[in-house]
Amino acid sequence: FGQDAAAGEKVFAKCKACHVSDTDQNKIGPSLKGLLGRTAGSHEGFKYSAAMSDAGKGGMVWDEATLTTYLHDPKGVVKGTKMAFVGLKADKDVADVIAYLKQFSP
Ligand code: HEM
Repeated sequence: FGQDAAAGEKVFAKCKACHVSDTDQNKIGPSLKGLLGRTAGSHEGFKYSAAMSDAGKGGMVWDEATLTTYLHDPKGVVKGTKMAFVGLKADKDVADVIAYLKQFSP
């Protein structure tokens, strides 16, 4: 399926209460700037759950595959994460929001 960054910007409205995509500012959740290619639980200055830190220490890196599973079911993929979000149901929403976040990644 195609990825649509403009549609992804609309999906990102669901994330904005807790995340920014375009600066390094941490809010309730860590900044998602530079997310693609980043080790899980590694944004400077954010206090992650032990579960997310351990996922990163175990080698988890945010790429299309790991983000796709995590955004569908955060608590199922990183058991013990403190991200209080049920996840996105539609495959297209997940693909589009990843396309949107890619624009702010190296
Ligand atoms: C963590 C994405 C919605 C709060 C994360 C991480 C990603 C992510 C990729 C891991 C980041 C890292 O390892 O540095 C998203 C996306 C969302 C969304 C794309 C919308 C579709 C939300 C919402 C909240 C939230 C609505 C608050 C109610 C958090 C928190 C963490 C986190 C607190 C840290 C988790 C931990 O340390 O266990 N999010 N998120 N997120 N997010 Fe979200």
